[in-house]
Amino acid sequence: MTDGKRVLVTGGAGFVGATLVRQLVGRGHAVRVLDNYTTGDPAHLAGVDTELVEGDIRDVAGLDAALAGIDAIIHLAAAGSVVKSVEDPVTNFEVNVLGTFRVLDAARRAGVQRVVQASTGGALIGDATPPVDERSLPKPISPYGASKLAGEGYAHAFAKAYGLPTVALRFANVYGPWSGRKQGVINQFFKAIRTGEPMVIFGDGTSSRDYTHVNDIATALRLALESDVPGGTVLHIASGVETTARDLARLCAEAAGVPDHPVEFRPSRPGEVGRNFASYDLASEVLGYAPTIAREDGIAQTWQWFLDHVFSTSAASAG
Ligand SMILES: NC(=O)c1ccc[n+]([C@@H]2O[C@H](COP(=O)([O-])OP(=O)(O)OC[C@H]3O[C@@H](n4cnc5c(N)ncnc54)[C@H](O)[C@@H]3O)[C@@H](O)[C@H]2O)c1
Repeated sequence: MTDGKRVLVTGGAGFVGATLVRQLVGRGHAVRVLDNYTTGDPAHLAGVDTELVEGDIRDVAGLDAALAGIDAIIHLAAAGSVVKSVEDPVTNFEVNVLGTFRVLDAARRAGVQRVVQASTGGALIGDATPPVDERSLPKPISPYGASKLAGEGYAHAFAKAYGLPTVALRFANVYGPWSGRKQGVINQFFKAIRTGEPMVIFGDGTSSRDYTHVNDIATALRLALESDVPGGTVLHIASGVETTARDLARLCAEAAGVPDHPVEFRPSRPGEVGRNFASYDLASEVLGYAPTIAREDGIAQTWQWFLDHVFSTSAASAG
């Protein structure tokens, strides 16, 4: 057990937050969550010993109030969809760029000891030959990727100009429990299997991603919170394993016990990168991070969670 910190988690009622907040509380940290519940749900944290504050990260007075007595921030709140960012770049900019700026500026004024922010690997780097790492040149191809790059830029600048101890973690594709409200591909495949529809693959099935279990992402966030890495640090958090869309469909169908479930191919969508997986060597070196959940085990566990919490008739708002 480490020394308990008083941590504000923005977006803590969302998918990653639901696992992260439980892990932080379990480690003896005192957690306050600030969330406007656009995609999150207070029910995700039912029964967890945490303080819930409903509010928007773009509201300066609300942020200042939420930061009272806080030692550190984990900033998760975001408009997190690549596809929606292409449809509506303005909302994406306002939440991810202006919102992140407001969080960093409030942290600077409050003298917070650590800011850990959620960034992204694939969408930020764009189309590059994998594995990508911290030396890869960011060339985002979606407004979402650009917004995360802008957030990292402000974090680095605030570290250098004001000494704010920021760390940005570039997540791979996250999957796992509490993701019932997300539109990620594993969820889409599970829902298709459940309803008897074909699993839809955009493109020819050779595009790839690095799928990392949410428990491992939460551990990386906690390690960054507890570490003394210098401000402005950027780290990729990944599994290091490349999974094609075609392989993922097979893994999901096998986890659900229907290995021959049909697949339908449709044209690929703008803003989405082709191949992607990442190296986590630097995070391993500076945080001691290593993924612990193999994709076959994690996908099977997530299918079971969907059965218990999303697909069962008694499941209320656990997703
Ligand atoms: N899930 C992934 O695969 C993935 C991959 C890379 C990066 N990320 C990043 O990780 C973070 C968490 O993502 P997630 O998958 O848990 O998404 P999520 O949508 O489940 O969680 C985001 C949370 O932020 C809240 N929120 C949104 N706008 C807000 C605002 N203006 N003010 C206050 N709260 C607001 C939502 O209600 C939600 O609870 C995000 O920053 C996302 O960009 C996620």
